[in-house]
Amino acid sequence: MTSPLPYRIGYGEDAHRLTAGRPLMLGGVPIPHAERGAVAHSDGDAVLHAVADALLSGLALGDIGQYYPDTAPENAGLDSRVILGRCLELVREGGYAPANVALVVTLDRPKLGPLRADIARSLADLLGLPETEVGVSFKTSEGLAPDHVQVRVTVLLARVEG
Ligand code: C5P
Ligand code: MG
Repeated sequence: MTSPLPYRIGYGEDAHRLTAGRPLMLGGVPIPHAERGAVAHSDGDAVLHAVADALLSGLALGDIGQYYPDTAPENAGLDSRVILGRCLELVREGGYAPANVALVVTLDRPKLGPLRADIARSLADLLGLPETEVGVSFKTSEGLAPDHVQVRVTVLLARVEG
């Protein structure tokens, strides 16, 4: 059934445990000087996973685990840009496109402020949006969760006419 809504909201979250000896990727951007990276079956990019889940949720299409199970051997080390690309395709097939996106990354270290523009640009490119429609916020956990990265994302999807 086709939705009558001109706009739909999507929400997504992701969290990964951090460990030494792994690279840290956020929004398709490698984070230099990160002492630890995400423990994950794929490349562990929690931003891209949360954005992909937000896209799917906006169209009530479930979540990325249904499309890319973390138990499937072929998904080992998977580039999360592939996951996001597929979710974007599903949104477009459903007659919508992202209009703007807002995300919060909770991570104690390293400081991400200097990379805000890089992450916004990367996400804008991946989503086909101007950078002015990509809001990127950072928070520490105030030491409550020093061993993990947490990402929360809202996305607005606009119906594509035609
Ligand atoms: O979490 P808190 O309010 O203490 O964050 C203070 C500032 O530190 C925020 O302005 C945020 O942008 C920045 N920050 C950062 N990198 C992080 C966490 C927070 O640049 N990993
Ligand atoms: Mg993940």
